[in-house]
Amino acid sequence: MNKSLISIQDFSKDEILHILEVAKEFEKNRTSRILEGKVIACIFFEPSTRTRLSFETAVNRLGAKVIGFSDASNTSVSKGETLKDTIKMVSNYVDMIIMRHPLEGSSRYASEISSVPVVNAGDGANQHPSQTLLDLYSIMQTQGRLDGLTIDMVGDLKYGRTTHSLLQAMSLFNPEFVFTAPEELKMPGEYKDFLKDRGIKYSETTSLEEYLDVCDILYMTRVQQERFTDPMEYEKVKGVYRLHASMLSGVKENMKILHPLPRVSEIDQDVDDTPHAYYFKQAENGLYVRMAIISYLLGYR
Ligand code: CP
Repeated sequence: MNKSLISIQDFSKDEILHILEVAKEFEKNRTSRILEGKVIACIFFEPSTRTRLSFETAVNRLGAKVIGFSDASNTSVSKGETLKDTIKMVSNYVDMIIMRHPLEGSSRYASEISSVPVVNAGDGANQHPSQTLLDLYSIMQTQGRLDGLTIDMVGDLKYGRTTHSLLQAMSLFNPEFVFTAPEELKMPGEYKDFLKDRGIKYSETTSLEEYLDVCDILYMTRVQQERFTDPMEYEKVKGVYRLHASMLSGVKENMKILHPLPRVSEIDQDVDDTPHAYYFKQAENGLYVRMAIISYLLGYR
């Protein structure tokens, strides 16, 4: 049976650590031909810069070929073709499907239809597991460990699929969490229950300053305009947090700032030149981690 990556919980702790080890090897040596002769589809029903381009680069660097689309309006979806039929067709052409879609659960559904492995490249506000693996890789690279860290997640914790996936993955490594969000964008109850069931500590605050000096990782996120049904609700919370370099004077020396990107206004550009900024290197790490994910799911590493 095919192994897909739909939720980060599809991977065991050992599998996660294996992916991080393989990614380290790909960072040292970016080119491989292990997937020569394979064809991989990147089908994106929602906009993306980093995820699509790093997956496509990963496919090319592994020696495979990539097909797909970045705008479903140019496909037969615009004529009314269902997701089911689209996946059935594409899976007949390729060895793997990498899919982003705005509907929560769409990737799991696709994996049940597809005859080849499916990688969830983001399904609505639900999960973004390849982002989580590159986040874990970035945490490991900067902190030298995953165990026993304090992670402060900031911003849109309600719709932020990257925070939901990261919370579940980090729960394997004895973390402590801080959730910094306005009332309207608090971490959903189901994720807090997930932590309670596992005895993992978390604190909640609306103040960005409150826990800055205790965290090892400050995980900033964008308020996601595209997830709001009411534009007035978005107006109320957009720009709620803005991190400036001047706010970082009391933080831990090795505290690193991560952000899945794109950013809007939540990290001022004056933070980019501080030793705490890691978000552009984090995005680069996506290439190595995605090479590792693809080769693992196809049985090559
Ligand atoms: N981090 C992330 O998913 O970025 P893109 O939306 O640009 O792919």
